[in-house]
Amino acid sequence: MLVNVLDDIHGQNSAVVGTSFRFYENALLPYQSDEFVAGIGSNAEQTLAVGSPSVANSVLCHPSISNWSKASGKPFAQKGERCKRLSASLTLYLVELLNRAYAGEQLSALPESKPSLEAQNCQSCHGVSETMATASSVKTDMECTVCHSGHFN
Ligand code: HEC
Ligand code: HEC
Repeated sequence: MLVNVLDDIHGQNSAVVGTSFRFYENALLPYQSDEFVAGIGSNAEQTLAVGSPSVANSVLCHPSISNWSKASGKPFAQKGERCKRLSASLTLYLVELLNRAYAGEQLSALPESKPSLEAQNCQSCHGVSETMATASSVKTDMECTVCHSGHFN
């Protein structure tokens, strides 16, 4: 929503959204460097409450939190500081992306602005405006095989 409220910066808004989704799926988050922790006005004691950073493997909140729980051994109810830092990490990354787009970088040319090749292959038949034969139409910027096994293997 935030990105689309802005003007389409050099035609790169879709790539900004796609790249931030890939980052949320694949990066070890939240950021934990001393510089970041100081930058958000937090401290090392609060870092203990975060436990271990984790990879979400998804753009959805539920796998993100549950994979963090697995990595850090903490229950959902203690997610507070971790989720605040996750939001701050994403905000920082998003601002960096917007600045790169504003500076004229073609983010849409980067592989990380698109779903994996495997998901793009699914989309080639399960398209948004056209589909192959009886395939249902799908519109989602998520990794398909996190939830589906696919069907030609
Ligand atoms: C070559 C085209 C093609 C590709 C590539 C493809 N699909 Fe499909 N998919 C279809 C068709 C056609 C159907 C409908 C089958 C039917 O009607 O029985 C379908 C059906 C499905 C279904 C419905 C349940 C089922 O198994 O029939 C799911 C879920 C699905 N595809 C997911 C995926 C995922 C995930 C990928 C990528 C890993 C993928 N598809 C790649 C053509 C494709
Ligand atoms: C977060 C999990 C998740 C992701 C990621 C996801 N799906 Fe699904 N998808 C589902 C669920 C749940 C259903 C509903 C299944 C049902 O009702 O049986 C569904 C339904 C479908 C169907 C219709 C099923 C049918 O029986 O015809 C297709 C086709 C499909 N997804 C393809 C895709 C493709 C292609 C992608 C990637 C671009 C994708 N999905 C990503 C969870 C997901």
